[in-house]
Amino acid sequence: MKRDLVSLADWSRQEIWEVLDLAVHLKREHKAGVRHDQVLEGKSLAMVFQKPSLRTRVSFEMGMRHLGGHALYLGPEEIKLGQRETTEDIALVLSRYVDGIMARVFGHEDMEELARHATVPVINGLSDLLHPCQALGDMLTILERKRELAGLTLTFIGDGNNVAHSLIHICAKLGMAFRIACPPGHEPDGAIVEAARSSGANVQVGHDVREAARDSDVLYTDVWTSMGQEVGAESRRQAFQGFRVDLELLKLGRPGCTVMHCLPAHYDEELSYEASRHPASAIFDQAENRLHAQKAVLALLLA
Ligand code: CP
Ligand code: NVA
Repeated sequence: MKRDLVSLADWSRQEIWEVLDLAVHLKREHKAGVRHDQVLEGKSLAMVFQKPSLRTRVSFEMGMRHLGGHALYLGPEEIKLGQRETTEDIALVLSRYVDGIMARVFGHEDMEELARHATVPVINGLSDLLHPCQALGDMLTILERKRELAGLTLTFIGDGNNVAHSLIHICAKLGMAFRIACPPGHEPDGAIVEAARSSGANVQVGHDVREAARDSDVLYTDVWTSMGQEVGAESRRQAFQGFRVDLELLKLGRPGCTVMHCLPAHYDEELSYEASRHPASAIFDQAENRLHAQKAVLALLLA
């Protein structure tokens, strides 16, 4: 049966560790010059984008190349998801040509519809609701810095958005506490928080940045205005003043606290440039680890 990566809520702790363990292995061997171009030899991945991307596009394309396969970029103007023909038909047609579909969409329901109808695996490369590939790369990054995951506290400063949601999912699965400090009205999705809590996870939602940051192992932030929310950017800028990771805030974390951001960043807003270039910052490791984590996902789903 085909397996999708639409939401980490559908993946078990064991499956997530399988990805992380394989990613560690693939990364180590890649750095040592070992080639893995037999793994997906002759396989192809369609990459459907409704939104811009640097990391997701390049890391999936290079990941397929490293594994001996081929990736095909289909930008917003090419497919016109949901406009030129139905999402169902797009899923069925692409399934006749390629071995997997990676998609970046606005509505999460479009991702679910693609997955429902495609006969090949569908990988979520970001929707308005979730960003599971980011969370997998991030856990690889934290593992490299801390040597463990269970028992750590990840604190998210800013919007309860797609990145925050996937981090809630993965922290819950891997035994990490998740805290968020956000402006009132920008809390993460209540159903995602409740589901994580009812699985036994420690998820705290609050509005005080300094209180949330105290004794954190990771301080994570993301843009105040996500792709697709540009109309409300000005009022969001007002609401999010102070929801920022900088060197002052870093002092409140545990010794060795790590600064994280999925990128792209706005250095005059959610993250100070100084914090981003501090030795505590893992932001470029995160970007790199998208490649290794996604290669593991591709190898597990498409081989
Ligand atoms: N973090 C991330 O997904 O970056 P892109 O939007 O550049 O793909
Ligand atoms: N929350 C951001 C993440 C970008 C990778 C957005 O959706 O625009």
